[in-house]
Amino acid sequence: MTNRTEARPEAVTSFIDAARILFQSPRLPVGGRAVASRVFERLQTVSNDGKRHSERYPVCKWIAPALAKLIDEPTPMGDAARAIIVLEPELGQARRTSGTNGSAHYIDNHVNAMICGPGGTESRYDVQLGFTIMAPETRYPDHGHPPEEAYVLFTPGEFRQNDGDWFDPGIGGGIHNAPNAIHAVRSHAEPFLAIWCLLIEK
Ligand SMILES: [Fe+2]
Repeated sequence: MTNRTEARPEAVTSFIDAARILFQSPRLPVGGRAVASRVFERLQTVSNDGKRHSERYPVCKWIAPALAKLIDEPTPMGDAARAIIVLEPELGQARRTSGTNGSAHYIDNHVNAMICGPGGTESRYDVQLGFTIMAPETRYPDHGHPPEEAYVLFTPGEFRQNDGDWFDPGIGGGIHNAPNAIHAVRSHAEPFLAIWCLLIEK
């Protein structure tokens, strides 16, 4: 069921408003900014079937440490960080269990937290907007998916696309994944947090 008139919680609005700015950073590839602008256009309409995932995973203890350096910043990144902390009890949490080359215990050491998307705080099916949290020293498996995707980093961390080299786009930087492109991320000494958005083709 879609409810287009339902009010959107203030923290969801804050997160969307901040993320919209972050995904237009010139530090993102042009393709990442382009897919994000289509995602945020759809997010102007509220859509929520209320089917939020209720599972909670212990790796979420890393969210606050990952955001600690940003939490007092008077910037869109600080706004997004503060919204994530408010939304933590209402995130839709899920874990990837498929893919190759993931580190030992990677399933326990990561969570994909949905804010706007299937099973998320605002559960909907036309876009995905949320973030991945990983414990230190974790390698997320190589994977691909049909929806096009953009990421923005909130912490140090490295990405790999297809058979390329690992690289760190830097905090506030990001990447773009074309449909079905193989990609992975990994953390080192610090926890990893990156926000992502995906456009679901209708
Ligand atoms: Fe992905």
